[in-house]
Amino acid sequence: MIDHIILTSFKNFSNEIIRIGPFSLIVGANASGKSNIRDAFRFLHGLGRGYTLSEAIGGKFGDGGQLEWREIRGGPRYLTKIGEKIFSISVGFRVNEEQLDFSIAAGQEILGADTFRVWIEEVSVNDNEIYRWEADKENVLLPDFSMNFADILRRDQPILTQIHSLVEEKVKYRLVPGFIDMIASMRFLDLVPDRMREPSYPSQVVLGDRGENLPSVLNEICADREAKQMMMEWIRELTPMDVVDLEFPLGPDGRIYLMLKERDGTVISASAASDGTLRFLAMIAALLVRDSSRLYFFEEIDNGIHPSRLRLLVDLIETQTAKGHIQVVATTHSPELLSIVNEKTFKHTSVVFRREGTNDAIIRPVSEIPNAIELRKSQGLGRLLAGGWMETALAFTEGDGDGNGEETTG
Ligand SMILES: Nc1ncnc2c1ncn2[C@@H]1O[C@H](COP(=O)(O)OP(=O)(O)O)[C@@H](O)[C@H]1O
Ligand SMILES: [Mg+2]
Repeated sequence: MIDHIILTSFKNFSNEIIRIGPFSLIVGANASGKSNIRDAFRFLHGLGRGYTLSEAIGGKFGDGGQLEWREIRGGPRYLTKIGEKIFSISVGFRVNEEQLDFSIAAGQEILGADTFRVWIEEVSVNDNEIYRWEADKENVLLPDFSMNFADILRRDQPILTQIHSLVEEKVKYRLVPGFIDMIASMRFLDLVPDRMREPSYPSQVVLGDRGENLPSVLNEICADREAKQMMMEWIRELTPMDVVDLEFPLGPDGRIYLMLKERDGTVISASAASDGTLRFLAMIAALLVRDSSRLYFFEEIDNGIHPSRLRLLVDLIETQTAKGHIQVVATTHSPELLSIVNEKTFKHTSVVFRREGTNDAIIRPVSEIPNAIELRKSQGLGRLLAGGWMETALAFTEGDGDGNGEETTG
């Protein structure tokens, strides 16, 4: 499980920590920095895929010229906080009682160029250093290996994914491959209804980021009787008006077509289904499919979903993440969610807001606001958030020994 992420000079964050739980919610006004947090996760995921820094940040084309990986929003120019040269990201990763800490500091080799290099990189397990790389010292400390890694390592790719195959065998490093698997399997769902309407080939059992392959992924879930039953229960609850069953006819083109059976018996094609229904189906599919990703990032989870259904969706996410195999991080600007989530999720709900008069953003657990529990019960938190008061309340608590140092002038 990812436990926390620290962002330093990254986008609009100077030095902020965000605590991550089974289900973490990020609330905040427009342009506060919610999606910048997503960009940090995407950066980590790019590293997990074995990309160089420039590829992870600037995008990558496959051998056939097709886009394999989209650039991180803003590209190389806007990854580092404006006015800074180096950004860093640290991650805490826990497995049972053990913890791996990974941190990477990187920057443009020549300011303005799109080539990046690693300046400092470090991994420790239970506070014991596994390796540390410092560009100006040109050495990698890997106590258990006699060879000199400095000569064979690339400078523009994290050491983490370069020593992967070397450390795999060593028991002492066992958390390292687990961590790489975790970041490599992150998924970022940014659903586009038209993509979900398209038929897909039976072998396409991984849901695309835009919701591609929805028919074949749902079909795959239905192959397992128990999984199908659970899925249909959630679908019937979430979409009581429209969907009571799913059908998957095979087209003459060899692709699976998704058909939705409505309560009155009408069978309609996914191509004519409502956007909201398709979004639900995709989120259900993501959460219930076998071999699912370890961490999902849902952007603007409330988008196009009626508040009464939002409650059920939250329920589904909380049920699935409580099993301990997957984590979900979701952004929202809907304050309603604050009173819907359970206690555990509430503890992992953070608000992102801009420091007054600056471009800097701050991330704080909502539970830190004075009287958070009472306010939550009376649904007052949502009103505070909607009115911009929450930011003010939290800004006043700054400097209360939260370790972030600076005082605000608010
Ligand atoms: N490199 C950067 N340095 C400083 N601020 C940045 C940088 N890149 C983006 N920003 C700020 O981040 C804001 C967008 O944040 P975003 O995460 O997209 O907001 P939202 O909360 O709506 O998802 C922009 O308005 C911009 O001010
Ligand atoms: Mg956004």
